[in-house]
Amino acid sequence: MPKDMNDIVSIFERRESEARSYCRGMPATFTSASGSEITDDTGKTYIDFLAGCSSLNYGHNDPDMKSALIDHIANDGITHGLDMYTDTKAAFLETFEEKILEPRGLDYKVMMTGPTGTNAVEAAMKLARKVTRRRNIVAFTNGFHGMTMGALSCTGNAGKRAGAGAGPLCGVSRMPFEGAFGEDVDTLAQIEMMLDNPSSGIDAPAAFILEPVQGEGGLNAASTEWMQGIARLAKKHGALLIVDDIQAGCGRTGPFFSFEKMGIEPDLVPLAKSLSGMGLPFAALLVKPEHDIWKPAEHNGTFRGNTHAFVTARVAIEKFWSDDRFEKEIGEKAEMLTGALNDIAALVPGAKLKGRGMMQGVDVGSGDLAGDICARAFEKGLIIETSGAHDEVVKVLAPLTTPKDTLRKGFNILLDAANDVLSAHNKIAAE
Ligand SMILES: Cc1ncc(COP(=O)(O)O)c(C=O)c1O
Repeated sequence: MPKDMNDIVSIFERRESEARSYCRGMPATFTSASGSEITDDTGKTYIDFLAGCSSLNYGHNDPDMKSALIDHIANDGITHGLDMYTDTKAAFLETFEEKILEPRGLDYKVMMTGPTGTNAVEAAMKLARKVTRRRNIVAFTNGFHGMTMGALSCTGNAGKRAGAGAGPLCGVSRMPFEGAFGEDVDTLAQIEMMLDNPSSGIDAPAAFILEPVQGEGGLNAASTEWMQGIARLAKKHGALLIVDDIQAGCGRTGPFFSFEKMGIEPDLVPLAKSLSGMGLPFAALLVKPEHDIWKPAEHNGTFRGNTHAFVTARVAIEKFWSDDRFEKEIGEKAEMLTGALNDIAALVPGAKLKGRGMMQGVDVGSGDLAGDICARAFEKGLIIETSGAHDEVVKVLAPLTTPKDTLRKGFNILLDAANDVLSAHNKIAAE
């Protein structure tokens, strides 16, 4: 056991790859977590406004999920079953069908992919190309879809793309997301023109892939009208519509699916992050039945369908999605969040609110300022991250289950942090 913090830091610096990231801005060693709070090895407790980047929408160690999992393990339930039939997989699928799909009038096959979001995106891209026999995929400015080669080719961020070195990130055409050129530019019309013009140089697309709220790309939230426009263009051009709900789904924007009130029905929906309910690795691709043309094992993988996650995901759905109470609660908390972010925006000239539901933030105009606010918030006991092309958005991703009092405490810390940082910046500017 390391004796002090220096020893702990040194083992990470000595042995862990330079690819590590979140730990650099949050230099603590965490040892336990419950609900919306996480504690480090000095006993300091932090409010968690990062929630495993939306993997912990129901908080840390939900007692019902935890006890169901403990019972499952104590009873020698299956831990690993490849993709064989198990009682836990059946129970998860039945619950997902009964409480998520049927009430929303949705009909999807559930494909168990490898356990990370990026693998569900890979499966979606492969399937779209297989169904349409086309290669080109239309992805959008500021989109983030994962870090494996295919998903990364759809991801916009230059820093993330640099990780592939000179590797081929190909087969994708980039189009402007709604608002990419400012409010007055109709990006839908531009995209339509590019696709309609046989000399635009854009190959007929296999799919459009997009996030209704861009989680990593700055919390740009597409309007219903724009999403419907993209769905219409996909149909018109014989392409599949892939709505990546990995970060925005599972209640993050309010409803279970971020698109479900938009009057669109995507062909393919990658899900991951909070799907397991408890932060366990688990991803799936929802596939319209007519597109489920895979032959057995054509998208294979040893860890498809995490059996422990089937247990916790079932409990999460039963507990939070059996009626509309949770969605209403998310709406109330989202209003509180908007109010708190308005207070912060009022401190920064030109600041703008971004996002939707419990996936909101404030664009403070510079990555340095947003980074300083998050760093100060961390010192004061709040875990929070930035988002956006220049990391210019202070992004709140609190667990959806965060009690209102804890939310208020977190908002106060954030406001204090913003005040501290802005006073320091103003003082420097005045000198
Ligand atoms: C919208 C979206 N798609 C895909 C991914 C990739 O998921 P994972 O990190 O589990 O591979 C992420 C992760 O942040 C995401 O936000």
